[in-house]
Amino acid sequence: MREIAYAKVNLALHVRAREPDGYHRIETLFAFCEHGDALEVAEADEIILSVDGPFAEAVGAGEDNLVLRAARALAARHGVTRGAALHLDKSLPVAAGIGGGSADAAAALRLLARFWWLDADEETLCGIAAGLGADVPACVVSRTVRGDNRGDVLTPSDENWSGTPILLVNPRVPVSTPAVFARWDGLDRGPLGTAHAGRNDLESPARSLAPEVGDLLSLLGAQPGTTLVRMSGSGATCFACFEDEPARDAAAAALEAAQPDWWTLATRLR
Ligand code: C5P
Repeated sequence: MREIAYAKVNLALHVRAREPDGYHRIETLFAFCEHGDALEVAEADEIILSVDGPFAEAVGAGEDNLVLRAARALAARHGVTRGAALHLDKSLPVAAGIGGGSADAAAALRLLARFWWLDADEETLCGIAAGLGADVPACVVSRTVRGDNRGDVLTPSDENWSGTPILLVNPRVPVSTPAVFARWDGLDRGPLGTAHAGRNDLESPARSLAPEVGDLLSLLGAQPGTTLVRMSGSGATCFACFEDEPARDAAAAALEAAQPDWWTLATRLR
């Protein structure tokens, strides 16, 4: 049995306020790519995890891996005594603003709910997900959805991005989410309307930590056929949406030629 941990992008992300507990009140439009990490499960006596793939070393298979935390939280909530041998193929960069651990945790919840035959609908899984991280409920849903509060209060969006060709590029600089939020200037630049009219208020704080983000946004913005160019989450991954797949593929080739060490993913939104 297998699930994909779909890569997340924030089509827009507005930071509205800093709460006394240090978290930020945000308004965001989440969308999800057709590609992501792959998570498989097989019978076992206990809950165990192995990890391989290009970014395996960056996450490890220890108890702090969100896949294990998600599995244990689900088992505890539903009184599960069965085990599960989980195997994660980590192909998305880590600390990159595209879901990473959050998408893996959400995939674990969806996968184990099926594997253990649990009576757990999406809402139940989102409840458990919220305890694992602000982005995890959206990753459980893995469809275009609006997130308020910490990004964890979800409402349906009538924006349709399904099938949009998208190019994700990461300059291979890990960026810490708390560090980026800590550099937000405290200025509320207004509510989120549509993705097109929106912004990512974390771009400027992320650029001050990782100047590569600015170079990357300029390179993406110079490509023909783009409809939206922005940073995702707290970075450093940036993305461009395109009018069609040939335009996306031409941009991917141009980026790979200009910056052969950067990570790229040419995919579509689901
Ligand atoms: O919830 P999660 O563990 O993914 O968040 C990681 C960190 O990102 C938090 O500890 C916090 O510093 C920051 N964060 C925030 N406001 C949000 C979401 C995350 O300040 N809405």
